[in-house]
Amino acid sequence: MISVVIMAAGAGTRMKSQTPKVLHMLSGRRLIDYPILAAQSVSDDVQVVLFHQREQVEAHIAKSFDGVRCVCQDHENLPGTAGAVMAAKPKYDRVVVLNGDMPLVTPEFTRLLANRTEEAAISVFATANPSGYGRVVMSKDRVRRIVEEKDASEEEKKINIVNAGVYSFSKQFLSEFLKKVENSNEQKEFYLTDLISLAVKNKKTVSALWGDELILMGINSKADLSAAERIHQGLIKNDLMNRGILVRMPETVFIDASATFEGECAVENGAMILGQSRIVRSVIKAHSIVEDSIIVDSDIGPMAHIRPNSEIINTHIGNFVETKKAKLNGVKAGHLSYLGDATIDEGTNIGAGTITCNYNGKNKYQTTIGKNVFIGSDTQLVAPIAIPDNVLIGAGSTVVKDPKEGDLVLSRSEQKSIAGFFFKFFGKHK
Ligand code: UD1
Ligand code: MG
Repeated sequence: MISVVIMAAGAGTRMKSQTPKVLHMLSGRRLIDYPILAAQSVSDDVQVVLFHQREQVEAHIAKSFDGVRCVCQDHENLPGTAGAVMAAKPKYDRVVVLNGDMPLVTPEFTRLLANRTEEAAISVFATANPSGYGRVVMSKDRVRRIVEEKDASEEEKKINIVNAGVYSFSKQFLSEFLKKVENSNEQKEFYLTDLISLAVKNKKTVSALWGDELILMGINSKADLSAAERIHQGLIKNDLMNRGILVRMPETVFIDASATFEGECAVENGAMILGQSRIVRSVIKAHSIVEDSIIVDSDIGPMAHIRPNSEIINTHIGNFVETKKAKLNGVKAGHLSYLGDATIDEGTNIGAGTITCNYNGKNKYQTTIGKNVFIGSDTQLVAPIAIPDNVLIGAGSTVVKDPKEGDLVLSRSEQKSIAGFFFKFFGKHK
């Protein structure tokens, strides 16, 4: 059995943000969610070490995950990554240490760490740009020690093999050696990385697990965050395309990690699929946004906005149509409409410019529209209102009273024509 400790107590100053580093968003999830999900895929003993802005991070974790424990680092007396691991109380013999600011580490890589049996395993990669990382000093293919950039000599700074920052230790080794880590370094911190030279000196086995620089990147700044999101988006869209979902001009499309697709779907350029959206056998056309909604057997857009809690089934949504908490089943809404807090049934046609007036400045109200209703262009439906089946509403109507089945509803002022007025007003040759 495996314990996982996630280090997330650092101040994250380089983010230059009021928001705790690990609560920044990446593909629609908080950074800390990724290591927690990876940890939960291998362990039922997951602990997150917190200190800076602890309450905010703890509240998010409590709300989003079951069975994850938050522990507080003694940051004043034991600052640094070794101090972070000292705060944890792992249950099991094998302890995987993940990093709150490394969201791209996959469950597969976490499993590789979990399966190690030696006293200490570190994760490494070779990089063209090692600056900022701890350098891995090796001799004869063996890891000797890790030296932090701030403590490295000019020679050591040239090493291009770096410590990625996730580890696997035996609990026995940690309990024997963590307490021996000192803080005699440039930052006066207790470095977890010093465990490596301690292990080597004491003839313990240390191994290196090679990984891909792309998935092992750490996030320290907003530039890192957007670089990581770009990588992550690429992975999401590649995976979808491999599963038969067409993504047109994928670099322009944004898809949250928790969105799901089923059956043959297409997503055109510039579209965004956000939150826990579920897209089934549908086409999302260019520059449309779908947020936390379900789309089944439908086509959306171009340039439509499907806002949260919409359920669009077997429906055509055209350009400049906005929905919110709208359940549409077998409907055509082709142009320029706002359909909010509405239920609309089969065979109904929503004319261009139809607005559900769902808000009176204080409260929101429902609109219900039955089957085979034809709503003429530029109609306002003042909610609460219920339109039964088989109703025809004339263009330009403001509907405030529930009609009866079979009605034609018209509310317009009568048209007046004054013969020849144009020429009187502008003259004959205008
Ligand atoms: C660390 C490693 C470095 C490695 C790099 C990879 C050490 C000493 N150095 O450096 O070798 O190349 O990660 O990204 O470990 N944290 C705490 N408590 C603390 C300090 C940090 O929980 O007192 C947490 C942070 O929140 C963060 C993680 O530990 O999630 C790493 O800390 P950070 O300050 O980013 O370390 P680096 O300087 O990146
Ligand atoms: Mg870091």
